Formats: sequence, C-alpha cells, structure tokens
Amino acid sequence: MEQRKILLREDEIPRQWYNILADINLNPPLGPDGKPVRPEMLAPVFPMNLIEQEVSTQRWIDIPEEVLGVLNIWRPSPLVRALSLEKALGTPARIYYKNESVSPPGSHKPNTAVPQAYYNKVFGIKRITTETGAGQWGSALAFACSQYGIECKVFMVRISFDQKPYRKSMMATWGANCVASPSSETRAGRAALEKDPNTPGSLGIAISEAIEAAVTDESGQTRYALGSVLNHVLMHQTIIGLEAKKQMEKIGEYPDIIIGCAGGGSNFAGLALPFVYDKIHGKQVAIYPVEPAACPTMTKAPFVYDHGDTAKYTPLLAMHSLGHAFVPPPIHAGGLRYHGMAPIVSQLIDEGIMEPKAVRQEQVFKAGVLAARSEGIIPAPETNHALATVVDEALKAKQEGKEKVILFNWSGHGLIDMAAYDNYFAGKIKDVELAEAEIEKAEAECAGYPKPTHLKHK
Ligand SMILES: Cc1ncc(COP(=O)(O)O)c(C=O)c1O
Repeated sequence: MEQRKILLREDEIPRQWYNILADINLNPPLGPDGKPVRPEMLAPVFPMNLIEQEVSTQRWIDIPEEVLGVLNIWRPSPLVRALSLEKALGTPARIYYKNESVSPPGSHKPNTAVPQAYYNKVFGIKRITTETGAGQWGSALAFACSQYGIECKVFMVRISFDQKPYRKSMMATWGANCVASPSSETRAGRAALEKDPNTPGSLGIAISEAIEAAVTDESGQTRYALGSVLNHVLMHQTIIGLEAKKQMEKIGEYPDIIIGCAGGGSNFAGLALPFVYDKIHGKQVAIYPVEPAACPTMTKAPFVYDHGDTAKYTPLLAMHSLGHAFVPPPIHAGGLRYHGMAPIVSQLIDEGIMEPKAVRQEQVFKAGVLAARSEGIIPAPETNHALATVVDEALKAKQEGKEKVILFNWSGHGLIDMAAYDNYFAGKIKDVELAEAEIEKAEAECAGYPKPTHLKHK
C-alpha cells in the first residue's frame, strides 16, 4: 500500500506565521489625500493589534497559545498524495494537496477567522461585522466568534445567499446573524438597490455594507473583519504552506509547481508564500494562482491603485483590479467573484514571481467531478479552479514524460454547493468570458488615481 496521507503531530503545528513583508516591497495603501495611510486612520475599522500586524515587517510572528488552542480542533491539516487522481489521469506527476476542507466550516477561512476574532476579543471588541461571498468566510467567522463569545453580523452576496441557504443556517447555528447584500440596512446597500433592485450583488458592495455597519455603530465596540486581500489575512494563512513544507520534507519531496485558486488571494498565498521565500532565495518553483475567465482580475485587469469596495470606503490599494464598481457575472464560485486581488499577490505577479492562469467554467466543473470520483472529497467550486490547472499540468507532464511534483491547495469542500453541481449535470454551466469593454471600463474607473510603481523584492 502506497502512503497517501502525510500527517503532522499536534505538537508539530507551526508556532509562528511567516510575514513576507520582511522580504518584499509593496506600494503603500493611500488615503483620500493621496498620501500613505497612517495606522491610526484604520482604527475605527480594525483593532490596533491587527493594524500593527498589517503593517509589520517582522519576518516571524508568534501565534498566540489561545489561537493554537482553537486551530488544533482540525490542524495540522493532512497533506495528501492524490494517488487516485494521478491514476485516473495516467500521469507520471506526483500530485499532493493540503486538505483544508477538514475545518469545522469546511474551508481554509478559519485559519484567519480564529486569530482575527481572538485579537478583537483581546482589544475589547464585542461585535464583528463582515461580508461573505461563497458563505465560507461568513461561516468561518461565525464559528470563530462563537469560540471567543463575540457577536457576528454577516452581509452575504445576494446570489450566493439564494444559491446556498444552508450557509445561513450554519452561521445561525454558530450564533451569527446573516442578511443578503445589498440590504436596506446600510446607505451603501440602499444605493446599490436603487441602482439595480435585481442585482446579484458583489463582494465590493457587501464589503461597503459591512464596513459602514462597523464604523457607524455608536457603542465603539464593533469592528470589521475581512476574509482575504489584506496582508495580515494572508500571513495568518501561511500556516498552510508552513505545514506543507514540513510534511513534504518528511518524505523528501519539494514541489516543482504550486497551484491555488485565487479570489482575494488568501488560500493561494497561504500555501505559496513560504515557497516564495525559497524562490526569492534561488529555488526553482513555478507558482500559479488560478482565477475564473469570467472574473479575470490577475490575467486581464491592470495593476492600478483602486478601492477594495464599491462605495470607496477602503483606502486605495495597489492591485490588479477590474474596477471597484464591477459586478462579476453570477458564476457559482462566489468566493472568486471579486474585482481586486491581494496587494501581495498583485506585487508578486507584477514582479514575475508568480504566473496567473484563467480557466473556464465547464473545464472547472469537469475537473471537480473527476477529483470527487477519484479522491472522494467533493470540492468547493472555488477549489475546482485549482483542480482544472492541476489536471492541465499533470497531463502536460504525461505528454512530456516528466515526473513533476505538483502541490495544490484543496481550499474547501462543496457539500453546501451541490446546486452548482446539479446545474453542471443539467448542462446549465456555461463558459462566460469577460468582454474587452469591461476591462477598458476598469482602466477608466481608476484613471484618476495615482499609479503604483514597479518594485523589486528586498
Ligand atoms: C473554498 C474557497 N476557496 C477559495 C476561496 C477564495 O478566497 P481566497 O482567494 O481569499 O482564498 C473562497 C472564498 O470564499 C472559498 O470559500
């Protein structure tokens, strides 16, 4: 019997996060005056202990014991050799994945929800607001808040709210309150509804609503949490890549190719960043973030300064962006319907350290079904994007007769996403590609903002 799972003992869990800001340069976020944002300007939105992490350039940051004591409900997560998928593809490639579907809400998202809830608690915050696309982040934060006794309010993008009613039930079970976005509860939500009462919603609108709900709460004890994009979120997710590295070392392997799906960039970066450190220091490794062709932020959108949300409440971030007003087509991978991309990932793409790929919906679900029928786990539609590229690379290795080592992130399971699979089996999943005119619109939307500079790593 060949070894399938490479496990770490509980006491082998990484005790520090890797902060890539020690090793790369980023264009700073800019305030309304066009000047770099000062940490205190973010104080109404985030607790100061998380703001300090956001701007820190210290390479290793200790994970508090109280955080490890919740993460170990499911961590360390297994590294799995996808033996059955390899066999199904007849590839000489060795394929490994980090199984992040084993967390209570079913994805990688609690890796940052838990520390974010913890740091809010330590700072004396009583209530956290957030947005959610696919529902994975909202349920992760609901779970994390329940661990630390904090109230949680979630604005869920309308299309996903309708497609996945059980995500709302999960959040309610963990004690959170979830409403569809746009909602009539906020000024940003009402403006979006006025513009289009039948809008499917977008992460950009939901973020505006959640920020507004936090900063307008007069008690001063509410803050906002973001499930992706920001530096501290990506740093919390590096526990995935740090574990994966230890697990691969145990069996004497090192990846030739690293793959992850990217919505805001957090699960992909969580896996990839510890390996980016190696690449900066001379290792050869190809690193591919994967997105839907329907929302081609990394592969087609310009690298610009833009807002992270539709109502322009956030600072200007240097990132690949389809424009803050962009409402992506209602594809099933709700977590990949975001107009922007993490500044860290955008910077590493701009520098040529990562090479983004875009995949089409039919190819995505075909790969997901193949993975479910071989490996057994039904993947989240977001994960299917990574799988589509894994299949492409494994078949390329077969054609070239090369024993490539592929490592990817199985970011979540799809057990609450079965409507998407039903649609696929009914032939209703169509390839959607974004019109060039939409990209030009993005450029026009950001034309008045400062331009980011092209930077090199330290
Ligand atoms: C299962 C899953 N994978 C991936 C993503 C994409 O987010 P990110 O790019 O931040 O990892 C999401 C977002 O909701 C998700 O739920």
